[in-house]
Amino acid sequence: MEIVESVRAMQAAARKWRAQGRRIGFVPTMGNLHEGHLALVRLAKQRADVVVTSIFVNPTQFGPNEDFAAYPRTFEADRALCEREGVDVVFHPSVAEMYPAGASVAVTENALSRTLCGAARPGHFDGVCTIVAKLFNVVQPHVAVFGEKDAQQLRVIRRMVRDLRFPVEIVAGPTVREADGLALSSRNQYLTPAQRPQAVCLRRALDEAERLFAAGERDPKNLVRAMRAIVTAQPDARIDYMEIVDDETLQPLGGPIGRPALAALAVWVGKPRLIDNTVLVP
Ligand code: PAJ
Repeated sequence: MEIVESVRAMQAAARKWRAQGRRIGFVPTMGNLHEGHLALVRLAKQRADVVVTSIFVNPTQFGPNEDFAAYPRTFEADRALCEREGVDVVFHPSVAEMYPAGASVAVTENALSRTLCGAARPGHFDGVCTIVAKLFNVVQPHVAVFGEKDAQQLRVIRRMVRDLRFPVEIVAGPTVREADGLALSSRNQYLTPAQRPQAVCLRRALDEAERLFAAGERDPKNLVRAMRAIVTAQPDARIDYMEIVDDETLQPLGGPIGRPALAALAVWVGKPRLIDNTVLVP
């Protein structure tokens, strides 16, 4: 396995593979890798001949009061995990390599980014689009894998690929969970032992929405009310948002669910803000 730090060397490797007719699979990450990331690597391996994982904590997707400086950087452990999974190249650039001095061009998404996580994090998805566009130009993948756990991010990236005509196939990987249902996240490590069992309330709220939906409930208000009751029963849980939106536009539903809908929530459990989601298909 090779560690590549420069854009020039990464583009040279991509050019060589492409000349050999090899299919390039790509898994972008911010490191601090866990089983959720590794499952995406395995998916990429199934669909490509060579796999690149990027590890880059992207400053432009963090807000001024968010945890950019404190984001866990665990490169040695991440490198060992990538090696074990059979990753071919870890792309690990510096901030200056991805954002050359004076950089003044960025990607903006103007519709899907406005709701859910985007409402409270202005500019976040523009930062995500900008770095993913750059990474696509550097790694030149045929296929890139993103997790369903970040449902809005997945939809924004698919929209960017469609609108900017990137020749990249986007594949979604299912959310990997702990045994009790908590979605794996690098932010879970900030839960105290008392908060950890409470954090399962996100998945339990979604389970309840799925159960009621399967029993015929189609009114988003009733579904959200049932979800809210489960989350607010936890003493350390504080809801950021809890919504059922159209799965394609991510806009609130005007009435009963008649087409695929995304149930999504973000909840602070003590210090960390956790997210989870499910798709309800009538
Ligand atoms: P990061 O949070 O490191 O996540 C990298 C990828 O792993 C994303 O596609 C995310 O959806 C996926 N992922 C995280 N937890 C998962 C889980 N429990 N199960 C399945 N997949 C999971 O998302 C980012 O980084 C950044 O925004 C990035 C796309 C790299 C751009 O900077």
